[in-house]
Amino acid sequence: MPTVLITGASKGLGKELLKIYLHNKWKVFPLVREKNLISEIISSYKNQCFPIIGDITSENIKNRITTVLKTHSRSLDVLINNAGNIKKNRGLINTTVDDLQELFDVHCKGVFVCIKTVLPFLRNAPNPKVINITSRWGSIQRTANGKGNAIYSYNIAKAAQNMLTAILHQELKDINISVYAVHPGKLLTSIAAADADTPPEIAADRLFHWINNIPDDLNCQLYDLMNDSVIEW
Ligand SMILES: NC(=O)c1ccc[n+]([C@@H]2O[C@H](COP(=O)([O-])OP(=O)(O)OC[C@H]3O[C@@H](n4cnc5c(N)ncnc54)[C@H](OP(=O)(O)O)[C@@H]3O)[C@@H](O)[C@H]2O)c1
Repeated sequence: MPTVLITGASKGLGKELLKIYLHNKWKVFPLVREKNLISEIISSYKNQCFPIIGDITSENIKNRITTVLKTHSRSLDVLINNAGNIKKNRGLINTTVDDLQELFDVHCKGVFVCIKTVLPFLRNAPNPKVINITSRWGSIQRTANGKGNAIYSYNIAKAAQNMLTAILHQELKDINISVYAVHPGKLLTSIAAADADTPPEIAADRLFHWINNIPDDLNCQLYDLMNDSVIEW
């Protein structure tokens, strides 16, 4: 049974990914801060769904991930770094250093820690993949072209995550681990933008199929899932 770890699986895109992977008979490790938000799913899929309870910015997350993975699998086929949040205060005056730190910790440091932690398990999979869920707002080129939204904390955090993706893509390809950045679309979730138009279950279904069919020679790109195109970094 193939295995996937999905961070931020308690709601939104992550929860829809959790459902799709389970439905397609994968063994799933959903990482959530509150287990009760997915308790019904866990009890319906007792032999397939093994939750990891924790916050990706916390000190103990490494141990929690390793303990659950070690108990149920020696390998991990896919890691989806999906957990994320936003603070919608715009402009320099309205942004604090703490906002910058908080969002960087979730979108970049948290992703870094998750990847480093599961590396031994990815190494044991035949064709391992890491998918970092990024955003159009993390594109420096879009912002430079006047298409930004001045949400410093989120945009800087996602841009940092994009650099992490690019470095990892280069380093880990030598050990056969593929790393990708995906903008999932304008989703109708709790952090929806004003122009949101896509139910998360539609994006999750599309992402599931995209991940299963990534061409071997795909370059390191910021892939725009719903438009099947590429966004400039
Ligand atoms: N919505 C969009 O239009 C859009 C567009 C581009 C990119 N994205 C990205 O897509 C991803 C999913 O977002 P979404 O729209 O599905 O948002 P969402 O519905 O708010 O879900 C976010 C998930 O991340 C979890 N999370 C947040 N901080 C966490 C932490 N420190 N540790 C562990 N889990 C944490 C949340 O858990 P709790 O329930 O505990 O809060 C929740 O499960 C995010 O990375 C977001 O930046 C979204």
